[in-house]
Order: sequence, then structure tokens, then C-alpha cells
Amino acid sequence: MKNKLIMAIALVMALVAGWTATTTTAQAATDDSLAQVQKSGKLVMGTSPDYPPYEFQATVHGKSQVVGMDVAVGKKIAKDLGVKLVVKSMSFDSLLVALQTGKVDMVISGMNPTPARRKNVDFTHTYYQGGYSIVINKSDKGIYKDKDSFVGKTIGAQTGSTMYTESKKQTSGTTVKGMTSVSDLILGLQSHKLQGVAMEKPSAQAYVANNKELAMIPSNFDLSASDTSASVAFAKGSTSLVAAANKSVDQIRKQNLVNKTYLPAAGKYLKTNTVNTSMLHYWKAFLKGIEYTLIITVCSVFFGFILGVLLSLARMAQGGVFATALRWLATAYVEFIRGTPMMVQVMFVYFGLGLIVNLPALTSGIIAISLNSGAYIAEYIRGGINSVDKGQTEAARSLGMTKGYTLRYVVLPQALKNIWPSLGNEFITLIKDSSIVSIIGVSELIFQSNIVRSDTYRGVAPIAVIMVLYFIMTFTASRILNHFERKMQHD
Ligand code: ARG
Repeated sequence: MKNKLIMAIALVMALVAGWTATTTTAQAATDDSLAQVQKSGKLVMGTSPDYPPYEFQATVHGKSQVVGMDVAVGKKIAKDLGVKLVVKSMSFDSLLVALQTGKVDMVISGMNPTPARRKNVDFTHTYYQGGYSIVINKSDKGIYKDKDSFVGKTIGAQTGSTMYTESKKQTSGTTVKGMTSVSDLILGLQSHKLQGVAMEKPSAQAYVANNKELAMIPSNFDLSASDTSASVAFAKGSTSLVAAANKSVDQIRKQNLVNKTYLPAAGKYLKTNTVNTSMLHYWKAFLKGIEYTLIITVCSVFFGFILGVLLSLARMAQGGVFATALRWLATAYVEFIRGTPMMVQVMFVYFGLGLIVNLPALTSGIIAISLNSGAYIAEYIRGGINSVDKGQTEAARSLGMTKGYTLRYVVLPQALKNIWPSLGNEFITLIKDSSIVSIIGVSELIFQSNIVRSDTYRGVAPIAVIMVLYFIMTFTASRILNHFERKMQHD
């Protein structure tokens, strides 16, 4: 049995590996990138809006939006191509993956065209030169002078950024801590987990201008070997799109549009941005988050349950080669899903499956979580069915009921009663765990709280708010489920 199990697992893994290999090498030889964008009528820009004045979240006409000079650059490119700009937010370290897997058409995120990145994507000419700085707590002014002053201390940099790489390379005796978002890094600075945060100078200026407790110092990184100006990234080989975008970028440079128009406009948003930072002001964002969290949870438990029933039946299939194969596959599936992190599964469905069918983030999230939940629910159901006394089946069969009939009308109803509490638990677990899909940009509660955090520059309050909201949701759900459980017990 054990050998068979190992073989089945190996089979599944080989299939996954083989399929990944074939899909990643299948690159379009001819470049129709420009034609495709023009045909679709829109240009999707990926960005990480935690980087004022490049890109950040701000309330414009009562609506939270991504604004900043990079958005203006994107708008200009889209306009010149005669299409509409669509902005998609995600973490900085997943931008290039999103580009390579076709989730976005271009990346504009204050990104420097480093040689390593050039291997995987194509860049336009550069549109802005920023330079590097380090943000510190104002109370530490005088203690830290530049990157070399942090011996025995910790500095932070965004994961996947050039600041992270350079800090690692160019400091010694200093701990370099990577975090996904710059807003989190600032929070880490304010709570003294970090003594400094490396970022582009204009961003440092924006953070300092928005926060009286912060100050900035020069970085003194040796940047002679790397290109530190920002540029627009496109998928490798999209020559026609890059050429078209270069025309816009060249105009931007020639007319000095960034300094003359884009930056002043971004600066205005930065000011209006700090007007109302009360959490109540953002009730709509939180409500939307709750809505998405519940949609994902309900759909995933529903589809997970159907999958769970099928899987548990497959695992109990008997007789014949077909039944054996079915049993193996189901077992391998359950083991595989339970043995890999849900976060990886979510990314795999979104980015991996995305190479074949380009699914939106919400659909990908629901699929991944349903697939995950199905494996767990299958085990609950199997346990539930096994817990129904064999005598029941024997009695039903001797009364002349068919196998299917017995299962449907005698075994399953009793099993369901036994597994109800586990199903309820699964539902409550998913309310909390569905938060993982925020990494692929689904606007559930965690995602919304991140937006509110970058919108208000308040680090802790939004976290406290969603903590309470999650508790209200899980507590209410568990009360409701308990009620039904008690009712079932009476029947
Ligand atoms: N310029 C740096 C880089 O290319 C950091 C950019 C960070 N951008 C952002 N939107 N957070 O790695």
C-alpha cells in the first residue's frame, strides 16, 4: 500500500513538473504585443502603490485610488497608444512574475533596469532619476550619518528591490531585513524594530514630509555599477510595445513632464491625503473587504464540499482496476494538497494556471481555496462515513436496497450529522485563512486594510480594526453553526 502511495504521489509531481516545463518554454516567437494591446483596448499596468510620489494610494473624489507620477507616465503611454490604462496593484516582488505570466502588460513602479532584470524583461528608456536615501527616526538624528553608521543595527529594504540587494552587498556588520511593503518598513522603523529604511530619495522625502517623527540621511551607496533611474518594463520580446512606449517616454523626457507636471500633481495628492485619517472614514473599504472575504469563504466551502464528497467516494471505491486507480489518485491528491502550503497553492493557480487560462485574481483565489478545502473536507467525510455502523449498511442491503440507495439514504444522512461540526470548523478556518489571497491582489479584508494603511500612513489602527472585524465574523458564524448543530442533535 505504501509503495503504491509513493508511486501515485510521484506520478502527480511528475505531471506537474512536466506541465510547468512545457508551458514556460512556450514563448511567442513573433511579436504581436502592440497589436494585442490595441485590440483589447486597454493597457494593464502593474505597480506597488507604497512608494510616494511614484505611486501611492490616495482618496480622490471620495474614492481610494492609485495615483502618482508613475500613473501619469502610464496614462501618457496608454493615451499615445489610443487605449485605456488599467492599474493593478500588487506587491513589488511579484510585479515581474505578473509581467512574465501575462497578468499585466507593463510594470511601472519606480523600477530600475538592472542587468539581472534585463535578462527576464525588456525595459524602455528611463524616465526619471531618483537616487537613494535612508529614512530614520528623527530622534536618532546625529547618531546615523549614512549606510555605514548601522553597524550592529538593523536596516530595512523592500523585498526584491535594488535597495535590498545593495544594502546586503554594501554594508557589513549590519542586519538587512526585507519586508514586502514600504509602509510596513516605515512601521517597523517607528516601532524601533529597524533603525533605518533604504529607499529612493523622492520617496524618503514624501514619507518625511508626511510624518513629523521621521528624518532622512544620505545613503552613500556606491551606485556607479547600476542604473538607478526608473524605467518601464514589458514582457521579454515585446519589441513593438517597447518601441511604441519609448516614443512616449522620450517625449516625457524632452518636455520635462515629470518635474513640470507629474510630480507637482502627485504632491497635491500627498497633501490632501492626510486630511481625514479616522478609521470610520474608511468604512466602505472595510465593508468591501468583508464582502469579498465572505464571498471567497462561502464559494470555497461550497465547491470544496462537492469536491470533498467526490474525493471521499473515490477513496472508498472498490473492485476493479479502475476503482484502484481512482483510489490512488484521490489519496495522492489529498496527501499532496495537505502537504503543501495554501499560499503556494494560491500562487500556483494564479500565476501557474494563468499561463494556460488567464483567470482573474478572485476566480483564481476561489479555485485555489476550494481545491485546498476539498482535500480536508474529503477526510472529514470519509471519517464521518466510517463512523456509521457497518450494521446499518448490512441491514439496508438485506432489505433489498441498492448500494447507491443505501449510501444516499442511510449512510450519508447520518455521516453528515457526524461531520457537521468539522464542516463548521472548516468554514470558520476559511474566513481567517482566505486572507492569503490578498497576495494575488484580491480585495478582501487584509488587502483593504493595506490600502487604508498606505492611504492614511497609519500602521496599527487598520490592523486593529480588521482584527475586530474578523472576530465578529468568526464569532457570529460559530454561533449560527452551533445553533444548527443543536437542532440536528434533537432530530
Ligand atoms: N527602485 C527600486 C527598484 O527598482 C525600488 C522600487 C520600489 N518601488 C515601489 N513601487 N515600491 O528595485
